[in-house]
Amino acid sequence: MRKNIVAGNWKMNNDLKATKKLVKQIKKTLKKDKLKNTRVIVAPTFVNLTAAVKRSKKSKIEVAAQNMHQAANGAFTGEISAEMLRSAGVKTVILGHSERRAYFGETDALLAEKVNTALANNIEVIFCFGEELADRKAGKEEAVVGGQIKNALFHLEADAFNKIVLAYEPVWAIGTGETASPEQAQDMHSFIRKNLADQYGNDVAENVSILYGGSVKPANAQEIFSKPDVDGGLIGGASLKAEDFCAIINAF
Ligand code: PGA
Repeated sequence: MRKNIVAGNWKMNNDLKATKKLVKQIKKTLKKDKLKNTRVIVAPTFVNLTAAVKRSKKSKIEVAAQNMHQAANGAFTGEISAEMLRSAGVKTVILGHSERRAYFGETDALLAEKVNTALANNIEVIFCFGEELADRKAGKEEAVVGGQIKNALFHLEADAFNKIVLAYEPVWAIGTGETASPEQAQDMHSFIRKNLADQYGNDVAENVSILYGGSVKPANAQEIFSKPDVDGGLIGGASLKAEDFCAIINAF
């Protein structure tokens, strides 16, 4: 059965001290809660991954990276490989975030390579995608999302989806305070699951967790998470405060 997941994407926030403090606070707050079918993931910046891994030991918290290079190693100044992540104790990577696509020119074709490399190194992928406002206004949101998933993922074998989490993040809702309505999220998630079912069959489609991301906060999490095809959230701004992040986790 698919799991509920709440993942915090810290983006380029939190220095070493703040990383240690936030992990500690989340750990402390979570202890009091019951989280049977829910995974909790935090994604600090590269330099603080090791510290976060160390401090999240013996807790529910898992640590993910926010990006990764597609090559195994070599002359790629400033980049980080899958093997480096593994050796830092990281087992999950976020790929395809809209900020990576928009500011760093990441394309579906490049992301397909990154996904392959992550899976080859036994690293789970949280794969992000989502339409821009102009796409939605033009009624093209399903065509865009369907294309992003197909281009980056549908070359994979069915069993690869044991190591893939999908994150639907409409670009117009990220960091804007504007959230997709629970109905808009559900409609898109059900469309995504149908695409998976058409390509790989119902078993795969039913087992993949599909997260929603874009201005999720304690006040709206419960309604969004209550939708049948929404299995959790990828949280940006609200993941930087332990109290808010834990309130979102408790929304399940
Ligand atoms: P937000 O970011 O929650 O601040 O809108 C979500 C994301 O970028 O993953």
